[in-house]
Amino acid sequence: MNILLKSFPNNRKTAFNRMKAAITATANYLPPDILSNHDLELLLDTNDEWIRSRTGISERRILKDPEKATSYMCGEVARKLLEKRQITADDVELIIVATMTPDMPFPSTACFTQSIIGATNAWAFDVNAACSGFLYALNIGARFIESGAHKKVMVIGADKMSSVTDFTDRSTAILFGDGAGGVILEPAKEEGYGILDARMYSDGTNGKDHLLMTGGGSRHPATYETIDKRMHYIHQDGRQVFKAAVTSMAEVALEIMNRNNLKAEDVAYLVPHQANQRIIDATAERMGVDEKKVVSNVARYGNTTAGTIPICLAELDEQQKLHTGSNLVLVSFGAGYTWGGIYLKWQ
Ligand code: ACO
Repeated sequence: MNILLKSFPNNRKTAFNRMKAAITATANYLPPDILSNHDLELLLDTNDEWIRSRTGISERRILKDPEKATSYMCGEVARKLLEKRQITADDVELIIVATMTPDMPFPSTACFTQSIIGATNAWAFDVNAACSGFLYALNIGARFIESGAHKKVMVIGADKMSSVTDFTDRSTAILFGDGAGGVILEPAKEEGYGILDARMYSDGTNGKDHLLMTGGGSRHPATYETIDKRMHYIHQDGRQVFKAAVTSMAEVALEIMNRNNLKAEDVAYLVPHQANQRIIDATAERMGVDEKKVVSNVARYGNTTAGTIPICLAELDEQQKLHTGSNLVLVSFGAGYTWGGIYLKWQ
């Protein structure tokens, strides 16, 4: 035996485990209440035709009950994940929640989620990368599996966007919805399966001023003035964000394909962040991927921020469209700016 391995006790050998992380369960939760474009016509100077032609969105879900926050949706997803994977809360070693609408600044929404399901053996924390939150969190979770540190990691993306949406601002109110999705990560059964590549990016210099909520943090804690100035809502320069999203999502998707020698025909599904059908179409076009392979539910749910990609994954799974060996490319773009891509082979 090599001297290096000999010097480690058996339980440390797992630290050399290079087995990739595979998704072994998926789940989502969408609140039952629907807010359609026609409903928005009653609130704002807008119309269904404008919204659909500019964004592809027809309706979105709203978590109406004021008593229910983001952690409620995480709890629903977490329960479904345990049931689907046939494991108990005790088996979960780490919970990562991606969100930009946490229940409160602290404690983390991941800790609330842990408490809802009673995952007493897990440690838990939140990740805030806005619309890229789920991909960031999935990448982080995968590292804990690859390193051998953990065998079961729960990764959830969830946002109650209605809590930060200004329903008097027609340029943003039409875009967002509430929803959550998540996965269980475990070591892949065989080499060559699971999360095989990830590229993550941030650009605060060019992104930080175009999509933001200025109130409620340490720079502008809540005051009468911050409320009067509507600083606790999303503000966005839509055109700037649109341009950056189209370029960055397409670039990272191509990078993922090139790095992994994937041709368009090798891709079973492109699972893009669901912000706007035009951004999704532009990404698919640059990749050369047939539209049948492009997952889109933006028409039904709008932009649920960290929720979009895991919601899509759970729908694909439910429709039994994911088979052993299916190549998936996941790509996202969001506030920050943050963006990224993940290549995974379904096991
Ligand atoms: N209904 C009717 N008219 C509207 C509406 C509305 N809801 N919103 C804006 N308009 C008007 C504007 O006032 C403007 O009128 P004017 O020409 O008289 O001044 C006109 O429509 C065009 O406005 P633009 O902002 O230039 O419209 P654009 O074609 O850029 O579409 C949109 C706006 C849909 C927001 C687009 O910029 C976009 O999708 N950006 C990306 C934003 C996004 O998805 N952000 C989410 C977070 S980041 C992410 O997830 C990728």
